[in-house]
Amino acid sequence: MKRVLTLCAAAALLLAACGDADEDPLADINGDDPATEDADDPEEEDEAAVDDIDPEDPDTVPSDAVEIFSWWTGAGEEAGLLALIDIFEDEYGYEVVNSAVAGGAGTDAQAVLTSRMQAGQPPSTFQIHAGRALLDQWVAADAMEPLNFLYDEEGWWDTFPDELLEMTTDEDGNIYSVPVNVHRSNVLFTNLAAFETAGVEPPTTFEEFLEVAPALEAEGITPLALGDNETWTLLHTWETVLLGATGPDLYNDLFAGEADWTSPEVVESFEVMEQMFEYINDDHSARNWQDAAALVAEGDAAMNIMGDWAQGYFSTDLELEPGVDFGWEPTPNTGGNFITVVDTFGLPDGAPSREGAIDWLRVLGSVEGQDTFNPLKGSIPARLDGDLSVYNQYGQDTYEDFQSDTLVPSLAHNSAAPPNFTDAAMAAVVQWMSQRDAEVAAQQLEQGAADYLR
Ligand code: GAL
Repeated sequence: MKRVLTLCAAAALLLAACGDADEDPLADINGDDPATEDADDPEEEDEAAVDDIDPEDPDTVPSDAVEIFSWWTGAGEEAGLLALIDIFEDEYGYEVVNSAVAGGAGTDAQAVLTSRMQAGQPPSTFQIHAGRALLDQWVAADAMEPLNFLYDEEGWWDTFPDELLEMTTDEDGNIYSVPVNVHRSNVLFTNLAAFETAGVEPPTTFEEFLEVAPALEAEGITPLALGDNETWTLLHTWETVLLGATGPDLYNDLFAGEADWTSPEVVESFEVMEQMFEYINDDHSARNWQDAAALVAEGDAAMNIMGDWAQGYFSTDLELEPGVDFGWEPTPNTGGNFITVVDTFGLPDGAPSREGAIDWLRVLGSVEGQDTFNPLKGSIPARLDGDLSVYNQYGQDTYEDFQSDTLVPSLAHNSAAPPNFTDAAMAAVVQWMSQRDAEVAAQQLEQGAADYLR
């Protein structure tokens, strides 16, 4: 019998993110949304038990269960997680509580996690991005157990690219999490038929974008799909435009606190985004990332800037064929550059069911775990020895780019900057969205850099 218990946080602030089919403009295309799926489930009994479990209240989690905390609840994201949990249960036989808090990019999950960590009630293991979120937030607070012993036992020191090891290791050489994948943030997903109808090619530069957009619009196709109901998507879109305006050297210097955020390239990034946003869907603020990506899937929009979890949504959830039903390019001006988003899991200090959590990490880091999870999730393996034959064309192309491109970390997904700066950048971009003042946004970023990067 399947013993996994699936949770969705019930706090008022999270209700919207947990999904309500009646309010979902994409309810038809998202017909298999797990939030609406339970009615005929033969495992309804398990689901009923879950009603009593609340990820915000750890006292409701059975004490012998391995509680796995993440934000993967649907739209292709959950499929990968559940496949990993299946492997874990089959191999180790633990009872699992799948404590997933809905909401893209984990904004809501991180709020719940923070209050639990502060209360000294961590889950057994939790999802965390490699990079500054892990190191500046939880490692700096002495809240994580080093995993050097596990890397020794599993022989993992040469298994992952050095860049990934560096993103999870502190200055004393202690490593704090296990990477399960690599996602790419700077992807322009396209509806190939829409481009054919308009008789234009997917753009590779800002100039080309502004040339093809009117041609698409003339055919009644929304050029660019945006879903900023959750505002992280604005930060996400902007980081790709920023990289396009700065190139990787200045991008890295900015986050290292070594360049001025009022530089012309930063100002230009907002000016370009303003021009691009003349071509977005009117209902952008009512849509989340899946709902915006679905516009491209349905052919109502031609392009969407999103991380390649959208590829997992297209291929796994909507069963679209990469290269036929949808296409992809690096976002304008970012060819040859790859913004990395690395999902990892770590072991909090005082983790309940610690042994189980360590065994979960073994599964995450294994070839079997990675090559089961990533084809479903839309990402590529973090390991250097993944079996590429199990990945679709998108995955194989992306793996090749990952080997040859210049890698830079993502801001929106918590790798490039300490959390305080990320928050300041989010505020600047959200304010820019309503005021459209590039100079003000750049000044706010410069203030954030003075406060948190230097
Ligand atoms: C990212 C995460 C991805 C995906 C995405 C959308 O932060 O790394 O795995 O979950 O958010 O929710």
